[in-house]
Amino acid sequence: MSVAQLPGLVDAHVHLREPGYEYKEDFATGTMAALAGGVTTVLDMPNTNPPTATPDRLAEKARLAAAKAVCDVGLFVGATHTEGDAYLPVAEQACALKIYVSDTFGSLRIDTLDLMHRLFRGWAEKADAVGYRMAGVGEGIGPITVHAEELMLPVCLCLSQLYAVPLHIAHVSRRNEIELIRVAKDRGVPVTCEVTPHHLFLSTDDLPRLGACGDMRPRLATPDDVAALWENLDVVDIFATDHAPHTLAEKGIGVEPARPAVPPGVPGVETMLPLLLTAAHAGLLDLGDIIERCYTAPRRIYGLPEQPDTWIEVDVDAGYELTNSSLKTKVGWSPFAGWRLYGRVERVVLRGAMVYAGGAVLAAPGSGRVLFAAL
Ligand code: NCD
Ligand code: ZN
Repeated sequence: MSVAQLPGLVDAHVHLREPGYEYKEDFATGTMAALAGGVTTVLDMPNTNPPTATPDRLAEKARLAAAKAVCDVGLFVGATHTEGDAYLPVAEQACALKIYVSDTFGSLRIDTLDLMHRLFRGWAEKADAVGYRMAGVGEGIGPITVHAEELMLPVCLCLSQLYAVPLHIAHVSRRNEIELIRVAKDRGVPVTCEVTPHHLFLSTDDLPRLGACGDMRPRLATPDDVAALWENLDVVDIFATDHAPHTLAEKGIGVEPARPAVPPGVPGVETMLPLLLTAAHAGLLDLGDIIERCYTAPRRIYGLPEQPDTWIEVDVDAGYELTNSSLKTKVGWSPFAGWRLYGRVERVVLRGAMVYAGGAVLAAPGSGRVLFAAL
């Protein structure tokens, strides 16, 4: 057994589903899954029901998370057609703003220039007043994070440049996107980006085998797109999972007759590190690449506070088959079930307390902190 000690990781893109979809996941099960994956901070997305679009909704979600979470949680606010930028008075209490400009699950899609212009201008004005948050300092606002595919990517890059707003591109999946982001970075656009494990390790070739369990937004891309992500890893700031649990029944598994439309999204918070360690085992990455993209960069980009006396211990040689029954996510499945993995999380210590060991979560509900919230 060869044990390595790493910092507690950050998963900067998860959907923990509270309020509204607790049957898929909740703050307890989602953060337990995070600890099992060596993740001690998660950033939770606003496409809940109701969406996290107003000061009241953010306060309500912070209370829900504070009562149940076993790791630290940052909360995104989201822009909607109906509420516009109602979140602005409490923007400092969110980890960042999320804008959906492409096809997604839920009701948060924005597709007019009118609203897009207002959202970027409003965020820039807020930053003029309170500044952008820096890691460890804790004051100011975070970046704008966008789900922007196809032509919406250059639209967002342009608005970011025009308003000097830090822009984070969620789940980049295609060659043309990563290559354009490289050019934007070279030209000084304040842009960063993330890639998910499923877009690094799966492609359209896996769709016949996975069926609805391989359906997410952005969709799985071609093997050439996957190769482009690996070729341009130096442009990839963050690995984040887009942990988006839906039940197997919703995916149409074991349901007759088969359903034409299923909600897109796959779980992933607890399999990210084992998959990345497996890639490291195969020589595709090293531990430094993982720490940079799952700890250093997300802390810098979102201005996350330090977690003192916090670390994880991984057995980097442990080889095993990933099974659905070992998972802590409420939905109990993974598109990577059946894969042979190398690297297992053995222990997690958060603020000096052993919170995960030998496959069991030891932390009490509510021991995780809600970052930036005014509770
Ligand atoms: C996400 C979900 O289910 O909330 N689904 C997905 O396929 N990624 C929504 C999203 O992040 O777009
Ligand atoms: Zn998402």
